[in-house]
Amino acid sequence: MKPYNKNESKGIQVHRMFNNIAPYYDKICHILSFNIDRLWRKRLVKLVAGIKPVNIVDIATGTGDVAISMARNISTAQIVGIDLSEEMLKVAQQKIEHSGIKSNIKFLCEDAENLSLASNSFDVVTISFGIRNFENIDKGLSECYRILREGGSLFVMEFSTPKHKVFNVLYRFYSKSILPVIGRIISKDNKAYTYLPESIVEFYQEDEFTKLLQNSGFDSCSAISLSNGIAHIYIGVKPKI
Ligand SMILES: C[S@@+](CC[C@H](N)C(=O)[O-])C[C@H]1O[C@@H](n2cnc3c(N)ncnc32)[C@H](O)[C@@H]1O
Repeated sequence: MKPYNKNESKGIQVHRMFNNIAPYYDKICHILSFNIDRLWRKRLVKLVAGIKPVNIVDIATGTGDVAISMARNISTAQIVGIDLSEEMLKVAQQKIEHSGIKSNIKFLCEDAENLSLASNSFDVVTISFGIRNFENIDKGLSECYRILREGGSLFVMEFSTPKHKVFNVLYRFYSKSILPVIGRIISKDNKAYTYLPESIVEFYQEDEFTKLLQNSGFDSCSAISLSNGIAHIYIGVKPKI
């Protein structure tokens, strides 16, 4: 599933799409989710804080909300936020400049599928609503595995399709008929918010993604359902050898 056309690579199109929508991204997220996205990110940060990491990479950090919240709430940790969209990172950087928490966070413009970070060096990797957009998810997961130290944890937060029948019907109506219209009006990008629900339908379901984590080498894989299965937080641990 690619945002704009069949010919160009997904990576190029995803880069263009997030550069286009960067100024509107936060506003649209909060409107479309009725602010529930803030609670999901809070839940993710609380889970990460619970394991008291010293260094963390937030991959596909976008406008930086998860990375910044981790920098605030886990003040002893060093955070690196990574994204391939310069425009999303510009918004993240502006937030940092207004927040006064410069010391334990930095952003790098890189592709998650080809990271410059050293192997076996991070306690935690987080990816929030990013992995669905990767060109090659297996490659992205193998990079996460490589940079984590043994015993380090990967947290992936991603949308899924709710299983409850009635809720599923309402959710599908909303995501197919209402969400793309609101997204298009605010972002002025004709495709980005049609791509969003379509890419969610195409993405792995809970059991499939947990299996993929296991197949990528992670241990103790689990999934936490959020808001009736609209999203999940997946956790996997790099085994100690
Ligand atoms: C939906 S946004 C999520 C942003 C943020 N993590 C959040 O929770 O709001 C997805 C982000 O993933 C980034 N992204 C997609 N593919 C990527 C890749 N291969 N490497 C790095 N970033 C990527 C996009 O540029 C975009 O900023």
